[in-house]
Amino acid sequence: MDRYLLTFQHIWNNRVIPTGYKTIKMKEKKKFDGILGTYTIVETEDQSFTLHSEYFDENCHSESGAVAETLYNYFEGCEVAQQIQNGQNDLKIFEVGFGLGIGAKVTYEQLKSSKAKCTFISTEIDEALVTWTMANDTSVIYNSLEKITDHNLTYYKSTTDNFTLLILIGDARVSTVEAMKLGLVSNVNAIYQDAFSPKKNPALWTNEWFTLLKELSDKDVIMSTYSSAGEVRKSLLNAGWKVFKRLGFKAKRSATIAKFYGEMDENFIANVHRTPNPALEDKQL
Ligand SMILES: C[S@@+](CC[C@H](N)C(=O)[O-])C[C@H]1O[C@@H](n2cnc3c(N)ncnc32)[C@H](O)[C@@H]1O
Repeated sequence: MDRYLLTFQHIWNNRVIPTGYKTIKMKEKKKFDGILGTYTIVETEDQSFTLHSEYFDENCHSESGAVAETLYNYFEGCEVAQQIQNGQNDLKIFEVGFGLGIGAKVTYEQLKSSKAKCTFISTEIDEALVTWTMANDTSVIYNSLEKITDHNLTYYKSTTDNFTLLILIGDARVSTVEAMKLGLVSNVNAIYQDAFSPKKNPALWTNEWFTLLKELSDKDVIMSTYSSAGEVRKSLLNAGWKVFKRLGFKAKRSATIAKFYGEMDENFIANVHRTPNPALEDKQL
């Protein structure tokens, strides 16, 4: 057997992961080379897979469950279903880090029976991850991706039902600005902030990065991230976001939500300011 189809029917945080995520074709080979080093396929506790990046020396997801984590941290953290219930029928989602495409796939699976239109814009520095996903993931959203070059931007695009996927190639700090110039990204309602950790991938957690994310956001945007690092929360505050704590996934004590509205908890913010590490800035990179 040279490939293996995944099915999910597992429990996370007392809920059942729906079937329908069964799309990764696994070659017997457990490693492949990208532009940024070697990637190793790692099975996680909900039997979905993630990748370990040699370059960043980190896994793309928690080993407690890649799909479960994505549903919890992003789909639920950004209140995507509630936004639709509240009448948002033209949703724009921006993802920081495409990885192996679980964020986009989980979102498509959750929304495919809804009438709402969704434009999902992801960003990826290592184009080999996108081509690997196209070759190894049978999800319909990856079957018809077309590569487009427009001015200084290269991106992949597919449209499936009401779901349009754009994957911007290159350093997100550059590609996002180019996509904004082309009118491809604006007024986003949800941000999946899913870079590698601030220690390994600091460029996507700085004051400047979070300022750029403000510029592409709608006034009601919800940003969600797995990170609870004090320096990340300080960078968000410096960039003008309101910052909130959320229960973390599985063993993680807390995660972070950022918005433009709502009353922040004074004790929580005082604790953030007491954490030892300073906010992250581009000049430290
Ligand atoms: C944690 S993984 C994302 C996992 C992904 N959201 C998923 O669901 O499969 C982080 C990703 O960010 C990408 N990345 C790191 N630095 C980047 C940058 N400066 N610009 C764009 N992508 C970057 C990495 O290559 C990696 O694929």
